[in-house]
Amino acid sequence: MNSNEVEMQKEYIKKIYEINKAKNLKYYILTMGCSLNENDSEKICGMLEEMNYTRTDNMDEANFIVFNTCCIRENAEDKLFGKLGEVKKFKKQNNAIIAIGGCMMQEKHIIKKLKESYPYVDILFGTHTLHKLPEDIYNKLSTSQKIEDILDIDGEIIEGLPIKREDKLKAQVTIMYGCNNFCSYCIVPYVRGRERSRKPEDILKEIKGLASEGYKEVMLLGQNVNSYKGAENYGFAELLSDVQKIDGIERIRFISPHPKDFTDDVIDVIAKYEKICKSVHLPLQSGSSKILKEMNRKYTKEQFLNLAYKIKEKIPNVALTTDIIVGFPGETEEDFADTLDVVEKLKFEQVFMFIYSRRVGTVADTMENQIPEEIKHKRFDKLKALVESQIEENNKKYIGTIQKVLIDGTSKTNENTLSGRTDSNKVVVIEADKSYIGKLVEVKITEDCLWYLKGKLANALRK
Ligand code: 5AD
Ligand code: SF4
Repeated sequence: MNSNEVEMQKEYIKKIYEINKAKNLKYYILTMGCSLNENDSEKICGMLEEMNYTRTDNMDEANFIVFNTCCIRENAEDKLFGKLGEVKKFKKQNNAIIAIGGCMMQEKHIIKKLKESYPYVDILFGTHTLHKLPEDIYNKLSTSQKIEDILDIDGEIIEGLPIKREDKLKAQVTIMYGCNNFCSYCIVPYVRGRERSRKPEDILKEIKGLASEGYKEVMLLGQNVNSYKGAENYGFAELLSDVQKIDGIERIRFISPHPKDFTDDVIDVIAKYEKICKSVHLPLQSGSSKILKEMNRKYTKEQFLNLAYKIKEKIPNVALTTDIIVGFPGETEEDFADTLDVVEKLKFEQVFMFIYSRRVGTVADTMENQIPEEIKHKRFDKLKALVESQIEENNKKYIGTIQKVLIDGTSKTNENTLSGRTDSNKVVVIEADKSYIGKLVEVKITEDCLWYLKGKLANALRK
């Protein structure tokens, strides 16, 4: 079924290519969500390019406009509606096809709103039907009718779709789809379905292919990577140790694990193998055991702290990063103080901070004791100030040390300098010849600038 489905879609790609081949058609894509959403966009780009659409960053010259949406917080959703206003004129100007996909399409109230208020949208496709985009486009081109292709049930895993990756050095590889955790604030389980793991052989084949194309770093992706289950007795630890055997891949990262599933075997594998970055993203969400229970996180403040201490002990110099939500329903000043306490104790390398956002359909949305906006913002600012002072403090630790840095290109702000990332994912800027791009080099850190570090090339590790 799986390979038949892909074959069928490839047939549609060929048919569309025939329709498009004499034309100079362009597509514009906007990705609004997380890394998984980005990886889905790379598949959308792969399919579109095989249909003879070339990419443009100018929406006004595009013949095909696609938005890959996210619904994790309200501001992600607002982004789509802002863009949809903008897009209407291109529809008139170029007769562009407008397609919307991604997580928001799995929400019934959004589909209703789109159909009622945005009649110029041509194709709506969900997270479980992404691979059917060629068929949807073909149907649109041949019938001129509006297409709605959304499945409520979990789609099976589709292997072998074309993919056009954003980066030439670092690749994202989805290892599992969906989530079973139902944290009470989170919409993801409703829009991405239940957990489904890719087969180890498919993942390893993909990464071997990436290594032969010259990729140096892979980021393993999943909503809950450490509940990856490739087979009986083959979990995330086994996958990590197999990935690190692949020649050519020099760095392995992963997001996101769930603290409740962070087993010792995974910690040991990270500690053991050099290629696995000593950097662990451990989403805390709240430091209050009471709020954690309401969030359905399945750990207490103490259990989280113990896990973090164990990781720090077993993986020397590990960089811990986290996600925190402020203003969850019922959060008191005391609960918030517990969050600050955990942040003070663990000194995270980076904290991704979010203001709680009500999501239709989730349990927390029905809770009565919602927190007023101004209190949420005050707490957010307080947490931000603490985090920034810690980062400043933490950066000082780097000065004078030698760090392994994978140079990914020229720096964003200055063409004459190069930038890359440390094992712990810190941005480092150096002055060096462009021939170092793509190399893993040793850098001596000389200066810290809050969001990045400056350094000098020590010597090239691998040429
Ligand atoms: N409101 C605010 N932040 C949220 N996150 C998930 N759902 C919500 C929500 N409803 C945050 C969590 C998660 C990160 C990806 O987004 O911190 O780890
Ligand atoms: Fe947004 Fe979650 Fe979907 Fe990622 S999986 S795009 S964060 S809603």
